Amino acid sequence: MNISVIGAGYVGLVTGACLAEIGHHVICLDVNKEKVEMLKSGKSPIYEPGIDDLLQKTTQSGHLSFTTDYPVACEKAEVIIIAVGTPSRPDGSADLSALQDVAEKIGFHARHDGPIIVTKSTVPVGTNRKIRSWLNTHQTGKFRIASNPEFLREGSAIHDTFNGDRIVIGAEEEETAKRLEEMVAPFGVPILHTSIESAEMIKYSSNAFLATKISFINEIANLCEKLGANVEDVAKGMGMDQRIGSSFLQAGIGYGGSCFPKDTNALVQMAGEMEHDFELLESVIHVNAKQQVKLVQMAKKRFKDLKGKRAGLLGLSFKPNTDDIREAASMEMINLLLDEGVQVTVYDPVAQENVKSILGSRVIYADHCFEAIEDQEMLFIATEWEEFKVLRLKTISKLMENPILFDGRNCFSVEEAEGAAIDYYSIGRPAVIHSVLKTPHSE
Ligand code: NAD
Ligand code: UGA
Repeated sequence: MNISVIGAGYVGLVTGACLAEIGHHVICLDVNKEKVEMLKSGKSPIYEPGIDDLLQKTTQSGHLSFTTDYPVACEKAEVIIIAVGTPSRPDGSADLSALQDVAEKIGFHARHDGPIIVTKSTVPVGTNRKIRSWLNTHQTGKFRIASNPEFLREGSAIHDTFNGDRIVIGAEEEETAKRLEEMVAPFGVPILHTSIESAEMIKYSSNAFLATKISFINEIANLCEKLGANVEDVAKGMGMDQRIGSSFLQAGIGYGGSCFPKDTNALVQMAGEMEHDFELLESVIHVNAKQQVKLVQMAKKRFKDLKGKRAGLLGLSFKPNTDDIREAASMEMINLLLDEGVQVTVYDPVAQENVKSILGSRVIYADHCFEAIEDQEMLFIATEWEEFKVLRLKTISKLMENPILFDGRNCFSVEEAEGAAIDYYSIGRPAVIHSVLKTPHSE
């Protein structure tokens, strides 16, 4: 099949490359010329496990190519997939301006014998209907529209595409749904057919539910700290109940990324427009905001005054195996620490360049994780990269001037902390305090 994907970001690029891998002819279009030049030269603009090899394979076989040119992308396409960003507006609602721009351009350039226009971007319920009218802004075409929300996770995007739990296809006509089913059938993933509105809603509900699980376990973790329970054992015990399930019960410093924060806010906004108060989801969002800054609050309690102190911070991306720092807890923490007058040294195996473009020289960038630990008066872990989990607390303790670790992702066991000369604060587990340190414990 000839397919075009508009927007070559995390979703568009992975989708395009995976569709090319299963034998389709795919053209990815992006407005960002630099990005397209980079892709044409065989380099991936994003860090995603497996993407370099897949791009090489599919471009060399002639199944995948890149362009900035709409006539080139639209000329032959039987299916055009829209995968541009739908970021939050200041009021939390989804900004659909890129989507509208794309739809109007597709409407102008696409074949007029009924190509299927598929929306993969996460869009508020009702948007696909608007897309139909945007497609017809410049001239009236015979477009078929469909919603095909994406469920991949960054860091395992290619794996998720081939091993997803479901593919949702929301379409009006049976023929459109069947054609799209044929397109994705080689992935071997179960397919659910729904109306367009239900498909759009499935995407928001899924993200909102996962975010709810995270905020729920984080609140349980906060209680565990006060009641002397261990949240990891609690989550394990809860997860063994198949009705609950064990995934997404990892307590930490909250969810970040380009989607959970944006999509939960958009759903609250969508509910508000229907005069429905989505109180549950508002609480989920509120709990998450508090959780992201929890470690800095702990440090403030420990040190009373943070001014002039030196801190190391490991992990900048919103989760491991990605360079994406959108809504990452690390960024909230760094900004708070800087406001408190702390000198911050950061380290991340892949996300450092992205942080540099935002924070510039306001923080110090270490070339190795040891450099971010050495001689520090406190250390924070914001992302559970494998590189940090294999460190030993005894090593960290020796490197630091004042070995106090605030671990936002529970990378180490409480038992290990008990055997190392380090004060160890984690999430939902008892703090381990050794009285030998220079900075006394405040309680
Ligand atoms: P992204 O920001 O990484 O990529 C969007 C791309 O679209 C960029 O390369 C940008 O240059 C391009 N673009 C913007 N305006 C354009 C235009 N007018 N014409 C052509 N290209 C244009 O975004 P993403 O993370 O890939 O997310 C895309 C959509 O998919 C969002 O709605 C998001 O909510 C949804 N989604 C994302 C993920 C994820 O893991 N990132 C997963 C599921 C769904
Ligand atoms: C999430 C969903 O998992 C995908 O299904 C969805 O397609 C995507 O959003 C999207 O719509 O963009 P992603 O944001 O890439 O994927 O990453 P997740 O693995 O879901 O993690 C999101 C955040 O939740 C991370 O900050 C992670 O640290 C946090 N998290 C996750 C927890 O704190 N605890 C957990 O148990 C799981």
